[in-house]
Amino acid sequence: MQFFVDTADVSEIEALAESGMLDGVTTNPSLIMKAGRPMAEVIAEIAKIVDGPVSAEVTATEKDQMIAEGRKLAAIAPNIAVKLPLTWDGLKACRALTGDGFMVNVTLCFSAAQALLAAKAGATFISPFIGRLDDMGLDGMKLIEDIRTIYDNYDDLQTEILAASIRTTNHVQLAAMAGADVATLPPAVLKKLVEHPLTDKGLEQFLADWEKTGQSIL
Ligand code: E4P
Repeated sequence: MQFFVDTADVSEIEALAESGMLDGVTTNPSLIMKAGRPMAEVIAEIAKIVDGPVSAEVTATEKDQMIAEGRKLAAIAPNIAVKLPLTWDGLKACRALTGDGFMVNVTLCFSAAQALLAAKAGATFISPFIGRLDDMGLDGMKLIEDIRTIYDNYDDLQTEILAASIRTTNHVQLAAMAGADVATLPPAVLKKLVEHPLTDKGLEQFLADWEKTGQSIL
């Protein structure tokens, strides 16, 4: 499973890249707003830090404008994935941009039928939003499972499932079990993945016992 980080905070991305766990980055207009910097500048910096796909989202809603924005964003760096919303215009733009050879991440997916359309439009990634479905009392993880089932039924559907809107480490674990190809994690969730109280407790005990031996390895 690949890990992307869901942020436009360049210093955060730099720090996380050092972990060796970062395979890509996703951004969206809200994250760009939070970063408080010009989008093109931020995306260019991120694309230099991370070798893998960096999603940059269009803000046009009409197909031709989406294609124009997508081409402009894709020109920033070779590892840009153009992010398009799951609308008819977005799907048409997806077909055009993947036809140009660009990676496309179709976002704001909330049903398996939508994911089927995105795959038929040639999307590189489909982004089902787990957390936002859970927030409504629905089952976000079931959506990942359903998309996996559908995509596995047809060899011609090559789109990767990018589990998005992740809120917890449990979401990451369950998405991996459900067969998501990628998960995009808020930085805090990625950092938390390593934590377990029994790891801390066990290490404390080992180190205390080692101290008693009076030995040193080096
Ligand atoms: C995915 O690409 C989106 O940027 C993101 O996961 C949305 O998450 P949110 O529901 O926490 O805003």
